[in-house]
Amino acid sequence: MSIVVTAASGQLGRAVVTSLLDRGAAPADVVATSRRPESLADLADRGVQVRRADYSEPATLTEALAGAERVLLVSGDEFGRRVTQHTAVVEAAVAAGAGLLAYTSAPHAATTSLALAAEHAATERVLVGSPIDHVLLRNAWYVENYTGQLATYREHGLVGATGEGRVSLALRREYAEAAAAVLLGEGHAGATYELGGEAVTLAELAAVIGDVTGEPIGHTDVPVAQLEQILLGADLPASAAATFADVDRGIAAGELLVPTDDLTRLLGRAPLSTTDAVREALAG
Ligand SMILES: NC(=O)c1ccc[n+]([C@@H]2O[C@H](COP(=O)([O-])OP(=O)(O)OC[C@H]3O[C@@H](n4cnc5c(N)ncnc54)[C@H](OP(=O)(O)O)[C@@H]3O)[C@@H](O)[C@H]2O)c1
Repeated sequence: MSIVVTAASGQLGRAVVTSLLDRGAAPADVVATSRRPESLADLADRGVQVRRADYSEPATLTEALAGAERVLLVSGDEFGRRVTQHTAVVEAAVAAGAGLLAYTSAPHAATTSLALAAEHAATERVLVGSPIDHVLLRNAWYVENYTGQLATYREHGLVGATGEGRVSLALRREYAEAAAAVLLGEGHAGATYELGGEAVTLAELAAVIGDVTGEPIGHTDVPVAQLEQILLGADLPASAAATFADVDRGIAAGELLVPTDDLTRLLGRAPLSTTDAVREALAG
């Protein structure tokens, strides 16, 4: 069975390919695509097929998806262009006669007010209107979005605008493993999975980091507009500052909370606790 994973040069896509191999997929059945196929040389050395695919160049998608039976479309990162790009991938998968396409979406994409999710919702609508069987993998927040900033938190504390809201967290590799389970499994067509692990407030996250490091970590909750100004002051581009501030608004409103055990069921075990994820990040 030929399984195509897009954006395999990215952290999530690469972890999906690795997970497919770990779960017994034959390397020759796995196609890893990227705009930069040279970055996948190590996967090619393991026998994985590597093909060039750019979401903005439909001709590359036709070639990259030729013969695909199952496809994982990893959402792109070029905001404002993603609906057109993702539509091109869906069309190439349909043209290839693929039997299943899984798409990495956002929590509650069809109903959320999160600005970040608008293109995910639009992509979901494209899938619903297409003839291809599909699975929606609505990934909540990567815990690495926070654990990647531990040094900053230890120096300045944790500043957010999430109030009492909880955000569901899991490791990228756990979302990747769930995607691999879907790609290799049966009976997932038509499913929408809301994926996330432990849900924490930012105050709880600061306390966890404090417990693990043995140093108290401050937590300051500010209004959304103030957070946006703080991010601008930290030299973030205006669009990124607005997007990240809006994420905190969404967390406060419960829009990044996924009260399901979908991730546990797909993994066949509970995802790592936030405490263990912080420990792992600290251990490097
Ligand atoms: N749930 C969350 O917390 C969260 C956080 C951040 C992002 N995301 C979403 O999840 C996706 C995967 O996350 P990640 O951690 O793997 O991100 P990442 O490491 O930044 O990788 C992004 C991937 O998207 C690929 N890409 C971007 N534009 C493309 C195009 N036009 N054609 C083909 N590939 C393209 C990149 O390819 P190149 O290597 O060629 O640049 C790269 O492989 C992101 O793209 C974003 O949509 C989710």
